[in-house]
Amino acid sequence: QGDPRLKAISEAIRVVPHFPKPGIMFQDITTLLLDHKCFKDTVDIFVDRYRDMAISVVAGVEARGFMFGPSVALAIGAKFVPLRKPRKLPGEVISEAYVLEYGTDCLEMHVGAVQPGERALVIDDLVATGGTLSAAIRLLVERVGAEVVECACVVGLREVKGQHRLNGKPLYILVEPR
Ligand code: PRP
Repeated sequence: QGDPRLKAISEAIRVVPHFPKPGIMFQDITTLLLDHKCFKDTVDIFVDRYRDMAISVVAGVEARGFMFGPSVALAIGAKFVPLRKPRKLPGEVISEAYVLEYGTDCLEMHVGAVQPGERALVIDDLVATGGTLSAAIRLLVERVGAEVVECACVVGLREVKGQHRLNGKPLYILVEPR
């Protein structure tokens, strides 16, 4: 893409080798949040893309989807719904498991937060295997009957980006990992 803002956004993300374990090149978006212009540009790019798509819910994935999702939701006139790790939400929840390198984890959403037929955008900081976003999509589409318009991430791995789809839903990624 030719958007000049993307180069600065990419460079504002700190790469931390071997975190949280050997071999992982951790893409640390906290340094992007420290740079007001890059942070605002990131949110603005999402807002410009989604403002006229009749999206009524932005679903953010714990934890770093919470750092971008609410700003986008406010700007496009949507509600924000947190998709949380197990045992964090106090109300009645629905859960979807996903596979990790070792074992499984779960994403949970409050029952009643999203209605059938609502148009949803899913936001997270990063997509790697796509397992987390797949669980988010299943919660919204299969469990609630909402429509997932797109999943949006700041950073995405090349292989996943190459597909441009996840569970049949479009995937929008700003920058590649460095
Ligand atoms: C990271 C990242 C995504 C997920 C992507 O979160 O923020 O949510 O991994 O990986 P995947 O595409 O292979 O599923 P993490 O699991 O580290 O949880 P955290 O944000 O709560 O630390």
